[in-house]
Amino acid sequence: MLTKLGPVTFIKSLARILSGRPQTPPSLSDNELLGIILKRRSVRSFADQSIPDDVFAAILEAGRLAPSTVNLQTWSFAIFTDSSWRETFGAAIPFRGKRAVIVMGDTHRDKLVADVFPYSPLVEYTIAVMNASLAAMNMNVAAEALGVSSVMLSETGRSGLLDVGYLREKLGLPDGVFPLMTIVFGYARGAHPPMPPKLPLDQICWSGQYKETDRALMEDWWAQMQAGYKAGHPFSSFEAQLRLYMSKIGQAEADLRKIVFYGER
Ligand SMILES: Cc1cc2nc3c(=O)[nH]c(=O)nc-3n(C[C@H](O)[C@H](O)[C@H](O)COP(=O)(O)O)c2cc1C
Repeated sequence: MLTKLGPVTFIKSLARILSGRPQTPPSLSDNELLGIILKRRSVRSFADQSIPDDVFAAILEAGRLAPSTVNLQTWSFAIFTDSSWRETFGAAIPFRGKRAVIVMGDTHRDKLVADVFPYSPLVEYTIAVMNASLAAMNMNVAAEALGVSSVMLSETGRSGLLDVGYLREKLGLPDGVFPLMTIVFGYARGAHPPMPPKLPLDQICWSGQYKETDRALMEDWWAQMQAGYKAGHPFSSFEAQLRLYMSKIGQAEADLRKIVFYGER
């Protein structure tokens, strides 16, 4: 899956990453919201500065007001300060963030009044994932607008999708409630990291029939992914990170099956 990068490819790939910029049409370059969305980055280094309660409340409100299928709001947010996170998980919030939200799909709550998707667990699960992910992104963008940075985590810190069984026990989650990701919030320490390699618009957009992506372009992008990871983690590798993900996937798959198909257990 991964070929070892030679030094020339490594340097070329890094140069490509560092020259990447969001492409804002000049006529819209002063649009504030667009600027916030395009300049957002996942931040993994936070300053020792608290997030005021009203700022965090506004971030949560942005999540609450997100769009959802039939307005079912199939989500739950477990919210943490650095001390409540420490009490729960026995460690600091990853990357020493100041607040954290574990975003969950929640098909348990609306069952109190209606069974909207009987006998269709995959549709129900997919809808809950979609909705909760939109709520997560609303929180992420609201945070950016308020000067607060964030990173979404599905593995780091055992608090996302890949640790679903562990979190179910830890947080006493009923059937139908499944963690998707943790969003860690804080004020960024230092400059934003460079934009990681994003695929070009003309490779991901098409009209009419599906357009196969250019293989050489994908290989180039993959080399950039490896080089970017190596530059940010000199003592690790992209390969080691992928291996870690893979080592957890089997258990996560089994735990998720129990949750998604709980009616058939
Ligand atoms: C659902 C989701 C899960 C993620 N999980 C992790 C994670 O476990 N650890 C991590 O360091 N970054 C994680 N990320 C952040 C991605 O690595 C990041 O979004 C991606 O590299 C693109 O960078 P950008 O957000 O700066 O555009 C996650 C992002 C998403 C959306």
